[in-house]
Amino acid sequence: MKILVIIGSLRKKNTYKTVKKIEEYHKEYSDFKYEYLFLKDIDFKQCKGCFVCISHGEDKCPLQDDRDLIINKIESSDGVILASPNYVMNVPWLMKNFIDRFAYTMHRPKFFNQYFMILITSGSYMGTKQASKTLGLMASGGEIITKLTVFNSPGMNEKKRLKQEKVIKKKASTFYKRLSKKTDHRPSFGFLVWFSVFKATSNENKAHLPADYNFYKNKNYFIDVKLNFIQKILVGIFTVLFTTLVRKGFI
Ligand SMILES: Cc1cc2nc3c(=O)[nH]c(=O)nc-3n(C[C@H](O)[C@H](O)[C@H](O)COP(=O)(O)O)c2cc1C
Repeated sequence: MKILVIIGSLRKKNTYKTVKKIEEYHKEYSDFKYEYLFLKDIDFKQCKGCFVCISHGEDKCPLQDDRDLIINKIESSDGVILASPNYVMNVPWLMKNFIDRFAYTMHRPKFFNQYFMILITSGSYMGTKQASKTLGLMASGGEIITKLTVFNSPGMNEKKRLKQEKVIKKKASTFYKRLSKKTDHRPSFGFLVWFSVFKATSNENKAHLPADYNFYKNKNYFIDVKLNFIQKILVGIFTVLFTTLVRKGFI
């Protein structure tokens, strides 16, 4: 199995060491192959804020760099570990820029067949939830198998350190077990509603968001998913509700 690790740290220290531990736990499964991608070392330019990827399509992005290469790597991996330190209660600029460059996936999700682990390393608990939530956005339409937060405060006692090691091992195992299962990931109810609201509004936003319109016009759903009668009714009710709120400017 191919595991792609994307690291948003500005240095090769705590975050890298934590992923190496996970890799170590996975070594007992001989079919695991790790590839590391350090955002600090690749050609990945800063988002210019032009909005073109969102409005007219990601293929129109004026920046020429390794973005598509990374997309190919993500899509050809069996599992992806997104790893970042916590900087001032969120991810550092390097990782945030990475996420911003994929802002179009907030409108047109991707990575439906991908499986992710979200890893945050931090000095303390402060801000780790927010950092993890931000990093999780990068998983787009894929499945987040598990989220892990690892602390490296110098004052951590031995008991807490051992407890943390157990958590890392457990999360490594959870990741492995899910990747080994051959069942496809099923989108959540919230995601189904989200899709339907975007589809419903893409027609009226056709002039300023043509990429969304083209993306949604012939889709029943992002992937082939069968809904039973009750699910269809519930998705329908929530779609009407949220579409109304969007149209009235409440969301
Ligand atoms: C600029 C900066 C901001 C940080 N902000 C926080 C923070 O808000 N909360 C926290 O608990 N740790 C914070 N830390 C500590 C790092 O999250 C922690 O040491 C992390 O494991 C570093 O990972 P790295 O070695 O991969 O860079 C910060 C570190 C730096 C350099």
